[in-house]
Amino acid sequence: MQLSAPEFYTRFARAYDALARRGPFVATLRRALADALDPEPGATVVEFGCGTGANRPYIEELVGSDGRYVGVDFAPGVLRVARERDRERYRNRDEEDGNGGEYVRGDAARPPLRDDGVDACCGAFVVGMLPDPAAAVREWADLVGPGGRIALLDLARTTRPGWRALNPAFRLFVRAGSPPGTARSLERSPATVQDERVAAAHRALREACADTEYRTLLGGFARVSAGTVE
Ligand SMILES: C[S@@+](CC[C@H](N)C(=O)[O-])C[C@H]1O[C@@H](n2cnc3c(N)ncnc32)[C@H](O)[C@@H]1O
Repeated sequence: MQLSAPEFYTRFARAYDALARRGPFVATLRRALADALDPEPGATVVEFGCGTGANRPYIEELVGSDGRYVGVDFAPGVLRVARERDRERYRNRDEEDGNGGEYVRGDAARPPLRDDGVDACCGAFVVGMLPDPAAAVREWADLVGPGGRIALLDLARTTRPGWRALNPAFRLFVRAGSPPGTARSLERSPATVQDERVAAAHRALREACADTEYRTLLGGFARVSAGTVE
């Protein structure tokens, strides 16, 4: 069975949503991303490759009800689940309590928004899926402009000596989470390609930003970078 990435994420949107919200350590990782992004209250934040919107509550907590969250994804199925989750979340609250979040179908590599009101951009577990992640990060930097914030959260094989023994298991995890046929179409191990893309994206963030911060979590498997665009 050959599925494109948008078809894969559309087909497994509900299963992905369960993992994205209740999987081990996800709350810690999502909080680390939002804290690193550090948007001002009232800011407009765009998340590229937003999936089912699992980061939205963490970002919303920081931007408050005057801020705005916009999620961009190319898979219609995940956007459907994201909208459903928002309806459940805000069902018992006044309309104004939500921060005016919205979901837009589009390509993270070619932002479908040209709005100088975007204050911050982020991506979680997405740059490993982009053929040219560094170019995408540069696009995001252009979108927020000087003074805007960018943050990335990704998984890649660890380089920490005590944890490297788990890299083969991580490799299987990456393969299992990739659309069928990925290894064949890449002609390389999906984990190797993911490592390279993650490194390229985080490097591009450092090149585009001043005052960057970088931290690793979960034994070095999770990487968070953030900075202010120069
Ligand atoms: C591993 S999921 C991460 C979802 C979400 N960021 C999270 O933290 O749970 C990757 C998401 O990126 C989306 N994606 C991958 N490549 C994309 C692209 N070029 N443009 C837009 N979305 C993309 C997929 O459809 C999927 O929803």
